Amino acid sequence: MKQYDNVVIFNHPLINHKIAILRDEKTSMKEFRELIEEITTLMTYEALKEGVPTVEKTVTTPLETCQQTVVADNAIAIVPILRAGLGMVNGIHVLFPSARVGHIGMYRDEETLEPKEYYCKLPDGIENKLVLLVDPMLATGGSACDAIDLLKKRGCKNIKFMAIIGAPEGISKVAESHPDVNIYVSTQDRQLNENGYILPGLGDAGDRLFGTK
Ligand code: PRP
Ligand code: URA
Repeated sequence: MKQYDNVVIFNHPLINHKIAILRDEKTSMKEFRELIEEITTLMTYEALKEGVPTVEKTVTTPLETCQQTVVADNAIAIVPILRAGLGMVNGIHVLFPSARVGHIGMYRDEETLEPKEYYCKLPDGIENKLVLLVDPMLATGGSACDAIDLLKKRGCKNIKFMAIIGAPEGISKVAESHPDVNIYVSTQDRQLNENGYILPGLGDAGDRLFGTK
C-alpha cells in the first residue's frame, strides 16, 4: 500500500498482543469490551504526542514555583461512530474524564456497503476542540469519510481519527479524501472480503461488543 504522511500504523507489540486476543472467536463479550478500551487508551497515548492544545500554568512545588505545560481545559471532544465506536469512549475518558462526547450514528447498507447516517448530536463549541473520532473498524472507509465530512461541515478543523483494525482500501480512501486529518490505525489487515468484512479481522465489532447478531 502507498505510504501517506497523515497515516500512522502503530504495529506496537503490546497492542498487537491484545488484538490477537480480540480476534479470537472464543473471546467473551466482557473480555472483548475490556480489550477495546485498553487498546484505545494505548492508542490515545501515542496519538496525542502531537496536536494537543496546551496552556502554560504556574505550579508551586514544596521547593519553588515553576512553569508547566498542561492540556487546555475542555480542549478535547470524543466522537464515536455508532455503534462500535462506543466501545472506545471509556478508553479515552480514562485519560480525559471531562471530555465531552458527540455521537454520529451510521450503519452500512448490507448490499451497497454505503454508510447511512441516522443520528448526530455534537457538543457545543466542538469546532474549537481537538476531535478524536473513533471506530474500531476501518473497512471500505465510507463511514469514516462521511463522519469526517459531517464534522468539517460543523466547522471542526483539528480532527484525529483512530481505528483499531484497518483494511488497505479504507486507509487509502480516508487518507486521500482527508489529507488534513491525522489517521491512527493499530494494525493493517490484508483485505476486504466480498461482503466488505476485513480479513482476517475480528468479525462484526458492534455485534461482539454488544452481544447482538
Ligand atoms: C461497522 C464499523 C464501522 C463500519 C466500517 O459498523 O463499526 O462503522 O462498519 O465499515 P466501512 O469502513 O466500510 O464504512 P456497522 O455499519 O456494522 O454498524 P454497527 O457498528 O452499528 O454494527
Ligand atoms: N465492520 C465490522 O464490524 N467488521 C468488519 O470487518 C467490517 C466492518
